[in-house]
Amino acid sequence: MRSFITLTGLAIFCSSVALAAPAPAPIAAAKFENRASACTFSGSNGAALASKSKTSCSTIVLSNVAVPAGTTLDLTGLNEGTKVIFEGTTTFGYKEWAGPLVSVSGSDVTVEGAPGAVLNGDGARWWDGKGSNGGKKKPKFFFAHNLKSSNISNIKIENSPVQVFSINGAETLILDSITIDNSVGDSTGAHNTDAFDVGDSNGVTISNANVQNQDDCLAINSGTNIIFTGGTCSGGHGLSIGSVGGRSDNTVKTVHIENSTIKNSQNGVRIKTVSGATGSVSGVTYKDITLSGITKYGIVIEQDYENGSPTGKPTSGVPITGLAIDGVTGSVSNSATGVYILCGKGSCSNWTWEGVKITGGKKSSKCENIPSAASC
Ligand SMILES: *[C@@H]1O[C@H](CO)[C@@H](O)[C@H](O)[C@H]1NC(C)=O
Ligand SMILES: *[C@@H]1O[C@H](CO)[C@@H](O)[C@H](O)[C@H]1NC(C)=O
Ligand SMILES: *[C@@H]1O[C@H](CO)[C@@H](O)[C@H](O)[C@H]1NC(C)=O
Repeated sequence: MRSFITLTGLAIFCSSVALAAPAPAPIAAAKFENRASACTFSGSNGAALASKSKTSCSTIVLSNVAVPAGTTLDLTGLNEGTKVIFEGTTTFGYKEWAGPLVSVSGSDVTVEGAPGAVLNGDGARWWDGKGSNGGKKKPKFFFAHNLKSSNISNIKIENSPVQVFSINGAETLILDSITIDNSVGDSTGAHNTDAFDVGDSNGVTISNANVQNQDDCLAINSGTNIIFTGGTCSGGHGLSIGSVGGRSDNTVKTVHIENSTIKNSQNGVRIKTVSGATGSVSGVTYKDITLSGITKYGIVIEQDYENGSPTGKPTSGVPITGLAIDGVTGSVSNSATGVYILCGKGSCSNWTWEGVKITGGKKSSKCENIPSAASC
């Protein structure tokens, strides 16, 4: 029965929206705004119809939607309490543009994938080894911006052209059981495929993520009360904070990254702050993190970034305080470095450092201004 709106003998079968053109649902349903209605959209006009009708449907089912090239599946400004369900395979046309391919905003929103649902970016059409640093202009995948008290769960994304989730302006947002599989891109030029970029948000929980990509599994540029737990990250650059500094929001406060595995990645645990900038990183905990097949650094904390690269010259403007490293264990490859800490004078303090057991790799001789609890 969820597909019907019934009022004074009038029945509208919302599921037919995708088949009928022009769409009857938006006009009819607008009159019954508070009525529960489930609308199903599919095929090549599904995205446009869904965007048009989005505030008339309490449940939006996106079933095998083919999003046209150069357009966003626009689910911004949803009504409070709207539920969005992806079914089947969502595909996207090819265009060189900035994206995003999907954008969702609202309060008390839930977004979920039905069993077997996939959002397939078919990123190979863009991959040229240059990521967001040049070559073809590549669309970002999923904007989760300005979501309040909302949940995104069981979404599977394959083959993202470039960065996957952009989480910004969130207030109490849970992302649970998200799968990102960009493994095909390892040998075919995928680059800068960050899984979760978090900025300007308060209260983001990312639990049970399974990520295979070619850049940060998590990158927190700013935000407070962020949790990442139960994750598995493979093929990328590790679980990162930063680069912090040089943006409009440069505060990272109270972050728990726990119970996670990082394998076959450049780094395990990473914090980077921008040289010459101001800001702060405080109250960050990395707990129970298992490493294997790490090729650059097991743990790397450095305050010397400039234009996206380390300079070797740390500054003190973005202090890292109240850092707890508790139980980071496992192995790095022989050419890698176990731990590298490069702090400015006095700008790393009040750290705790327990249960760090990293085997393999080299010992760094370039660490500077290490707080007393830690060691390289
Ligand atoms: C999101 O999930 C949390 C925890 O499971 C739950 O308490 C909350 O009601 C959910 N919110 C929505 C909008 O589904
Ligand atoms: C990590 O796992 C432990 C043991 O299951 C649990 O107590 C803790 O809450 C988890 N951490 C997070 C942030 O969920
Ligand atoms: C040290 O860090 C802990 C954890 O963030 C915090 O609770 C405490 O207030 C900090 N102490 C000082 C002296 O800054």
